[in-house]
Amino acid sequence: MLEARREQLFERLKEGIAVIRSADRRAYDEYPQDSDFRQDNNFYYLTGLETPESWLVMFSRSDGRDSVVLFVPERDPSQEIWTGSQVGPAEVKKLTGIKSVYPSSEFEKRFLRQLARGAQLAKYTHLYLLAGVGVPGVREIVDLGLETHRSISDLGEPLAELRQVKDSVELARLRRAAWITGEAQREAMRSVRPGMYEYELEALIEYVFRLRGAERVGFPSIVGSGPNSVILHHDKNRRRMEDGDLVVVDVGAEFEYYTADVTRTFPVNGKFSERQREVYELVLATQEAVLEAIRPGVTMRELRAIADRYLREHSSGLCGRSGCQKYFVHGLGHWLGMDVHDVGSYTSALEPGMVLTVEPGIYLAEEGLGVRIEDDVLVTEEGHEVLSKNAPRTVWEIEDLMGRAP
Ligand code: GLY
Repeated sequence: MLEARREQLFERLKEGIAVIRSADRRAYDEYPQDSDFRQDNNFYYLTGLETPESWLVMFSRSDGRDSVVLFVPERDPSQEIWTGSQVGPAEVKKLTGIKSVYPSSEFEKRFLRQLARGAQLAKYTHLYLLAGVGVPGVREIVDLGLETHRSISDLGEPLAELRQVKDSVELARLRRAAWITGEAQREAMRSVRPGMYEYELEALIEYVFRLRGAERVGFPSIVGSGPNSVILHHDKNRRRMEDGDLVVVDVGAEFEYYTADVTRTFPVNGKFSERQREVYELVLATQEAVLEAIRPGVTMRELRAIADRYLREHSSGLCGRSGCQKYFVHGLGHWLGMDVHDVGSYTSALEPGMVLTVEPGIYLAEEGLGVRIEDDVLVTEEGHEVLSKNAPRTVWEIEDLMGRAP
C-alpha cells in the first residue's frame, strides 16, 4: 500500500525531486525519549515510519525509472536501555522494502552536495517541497534549488489530492476511530449526571478512547454544557453541569494516525425539555436532508445550500421571526483523515473514498442553548455510509440509552 501511494504520487510529478521531512523529536531535559512523538502526516503516509529527523527523497523520471531514498537516524545502542530497540537504516530497509536507506547524518553529503554540484541531478528540473521553510534543512534545499535554477513547486497540492481519497488501509483505520468515538459517546450519555464537571466527562471519554485502542485524541475534546454549549470550540471543560442543561460533546479518537470527529448533544438529566427537543429535531432533520444528498458528484457548496434551505424552510418561528438559519454560524463540514480538518480542496466534487463530516448546529446564546450533531461520512459508489452510526442520534435513542425514554 505504501509503495502504491508513492507510485500514485510519482504519477502526479514532473521530472523532478520531491523532498519530505519527518517530524522532529521534542527535546526533554535529561530525558532521551519523546514518548508523545507523532510523525508528520505526509511522511507517515508515504513511509509508515515513526522515525524522527528523517528525510524521504523521491526522484521522478520521465522514463518511469523513478526511485526513492530514505535517510533515517542511526541506532544509538547506548540509549536502548532507556528507549528499547530502535529502528535504524538496516531495520528500515527490511520494514519498507526500500533499498536505498542511509543514516540521516549522510543527508548533507549524499544529497545536498549533489544537488549543489548539479551534474548528476541536473536533469531533475523540478524541486518539490512542502511549505514550512522553518523545518531544519529545508531552507538550504530551497537556496540550493534557487542557485541551480530549478523550479520550486509545492508538494502539498499533489499530496492533498492523493490523501483526499482514502485507500482501504486508511478506511479501516477511520472506521475504527469512528467506532471508538461512538462508544465513548455512548459511555458519556450513560454516565452523565447533574453535578458532574465537564472535565469528568472528558476524562471518561478519553479513557474509553484509550481502552479501545486509540493512541490519542485527534483534537482537544470539547465538552460544553449550558452556556458553554454555544461556544463552538469550548475545550476548557471546567464547568459544573446542572439539571436542565444540554451538553455538546465534540470529540475524536485517533487510531493509527486517523482521527474521527463526532458530536452529540444530550440532556445532562437524561430528558430533553420541550424547547431543547424542538431545536434538536430541527438540527437532526437538517443533517438528514444533507446526508440524503451525499453521493459522488455533489459538492460541499451544494450540501451547504441544502442545509441552509432546510433551515430557512423549517424554522417556523423556532428562533424568532428571522428563522434559525442565521444561528448556523460555522461550516457544514470538513474533510477528515490524518488531520481532523484534513487536506483536500473544498471545490472538488465528492468521489468514492472521500470522508467528510456533516455537522449542522444552531447556537442560541441568549438561551444558553446550543445543539450540534456531527457524523463522519464515507462517500461510496452508491451514495454514502455513516461511519459513526454507533453513536445514538435521535431523541428517542438518546433518551432510551440514558434510561429516560417514555
Ligand atoms: N470538531 C472539532 C473541529 O472540527 O474543529
